[in-house]
Amino acid sequence: MESSPIIAPSILAADFAHLASAVHDIEGAADWVHVDVMDNHFVPNLTIGLPVVQSLRKATSIPFDVHLMITDPERWAPGYAEAGAYNVTFHAEACENPVALAKTLRAAGAKAGLAIDRDTPVEPYLELLPYVDTLLIMTIKAGFGGQKFMPEMLDKVRDVRRRITAKNLEVRLEVDGGIAADTIEQAAEAGADAFVAGTAVYGAADPAEAIRKLRDLAANTPVRA
Ligand code: DX5
Ligand code: ZN
Repeated sequence: MESSPIIAPSILAADFAHLASAVHDIEGAADWVHVDVMDNHFVPNLTIGLPVVQSLRKATSIPFDVHLMITDPERWAPGYAEAGAYNVTFHAEACENPVALAKTLRAAGAKAGLAIDRDTPVEPYLELLPYVDTLLIMTIKAGFGGQKFMPEMLDKVRDVRRRITAKNLEVRLEVDGGIAADTIEQAAEAGADAFVAGTAVYGAADPAEAIRKLRDLAANTPVRA
């Protein structure tokens, strides 16, 4: 199944005093807007939470891709689905029963995503692919923007892509961390079809142009998983 690449700019790299204008800057260019929620427990960093997402949701029609880097996602994730997030991704490391939470999120009207951090092997989670809509492979250690892309994470991407293809599943395979013009092709070749980009978009003079360039690079890279 061929699907055109999704580019999801991360507002973590935008000016937090001007989030509404940050999403307006990518309207018409971005497929999703990636919202990094960090709780100072699951990761050391602290960012934004539900009230900001609820307010920002009203400022744009771009689908929200919420990435929860939080403990106890069972308690908090459904609120993001109810707030109108398109996709809500929680971390495998923080969740005891990912299939149950995915089901809850879908019942609340969102797509359900499962994220795998740098130090977590993906094999135990391949069996769960039929129960999620998005599988997010971190290509850095979750917690901070602006880190260097780790190509060694692409073995996990290849494993997931092979399983998706073998089972003919409808799952988006997303990568997050250090995605830029000089790294996106490797990730696309490994089989990723959704790409988070913070610094590469919001650090660019023209964020919309940066998105288009990233999408072109991904779209013109054949998968070799
Ligand atoms: C980090 C976040 C990422 C971050 C990516 O833990 O999950 O989404 O914003 O930022 P860049 O693209 O700058 O690596
Ligand atoms: Zn993220």
